[in-house]
Amino acid sequence: MRAIDFRSDTLTQPTPAMRRAMAEAEVGDDVYGEDPTVRRLEATLAELLGFEAGLFFPSGTMANQTALLLHAPRATEVLAPEGAHVFEFELAAPGMLAGTLVRTLPAPLGRPDPEALARAVHAGPHQAPTSLFWLENTHNLAGGTVVPRETTRALLEVAQERGLRTHLDGARIWNAAVALGQPPAAVARGFDTVMVSLSKGLGAPVGSVLLMPESLLGEARRYRKVLGGGMRQAGVLAAAGLVALDGWERTIAADHAKARRLAEGLRALGYGLDPEPETNMVYLKTQDAPGFVRRLETVGVRALPLGSDRVRFVTHRDLSPEDVEEALSRIAGL
Ligand SMILES: Cc1ncc(COP(=O)(O)O)c(C=O)c1O
Repeated sequence: MRAIDFRSDTLTQPTPAMRRAMAEAEVGDDVYGEDPTVRRLEATLAELLGFEAGLFFPSGTMANQTALLLHAPRATEVLAPEGAHVFEFELAAPGMLAGTLVRTLPAPLGRPDPEALARAVHAGPHQAPTSLFWLENTHNLAGGTVVPRETTRALLEVAQERGLRTHLDGARIWNAAVALGQPPAAVARGFDTVMVSLSKGLGAPVGSVLLMPESLLGEARRYRKVLGGGMRQAGVLAAAGLVALDGWERTIAADHAKARRLAEGLRALGYGLDPEPETNMVYLKTQDAPGFVRRLETVGVRALPLGSDRVRFVTHRDLSPEDVEEALSRIAGL
């Protein structure tokens, strides 16, 4: 029985068009800034996101950590929504690499309250000064939820009033843009830096890009090298990223439709979902997440337990609408 794998949108295999583009990519030494394919990807994304410059990274984690190094001096504090990837899943890297502390703000559905942000900013002599406000859109652990533009605008206003730098973890900005019916540049607008991933819903095998003003580019290149991310003929990877951008709206909209259908089917089988799916993620509530995932495995369906009582299903390009129907009928047989 073929496994139907909903664990993550990072599981997608490169398409034949990506593999061809990788094989044929024109390349150079990117540490010297001489890889034409990397430069093309960086320029394409800078334009799409409305920034002056972009820098290609092997991972979203490394691009996020570079943003911290750019914005948050040692022994300062970063305010981020609870459940943020940088806090939960980057293995204490902010403390280890940038020497900063991430403090989380309450954020139902990944949306911090602007007034709570204003109250949380430290300025006095007895606490670490706050240097950076961090947002994640879509917010992974909150349920693939979308931060509406008005909320983002209000948060950025507070952050800027208080003199904070701002960064958006836009690993899934594509999903936010489609759900909001806005271009990605509108979701990215107003932040000092934005990280976007090519290796999640867009399906490239590797790569994230950090968008920034031209004035930060030299420093960002230096930090990337410090972190071990100075790649040489990286155009073989960037080439797949360029192909991944072809028709991205269609790919992402299809993923959202599959997630809606999966949610509807799971509800019809009596399962509770929380929150209401907004993008490509469906979070199922159960009393025993690891046990439920083991039972799913027995019928060839894979999903990810998160904590003791939630199971995450993510739709992606390598799962068809028929796979979703097949998974639902397998789950019905449990
Ligand atoms: C919201 C978010 N940010 C950052 C990352 C890190 O990306 P990478 O796995 O490429 O390091 C992820 C990965 O899943 C993510 O979900």
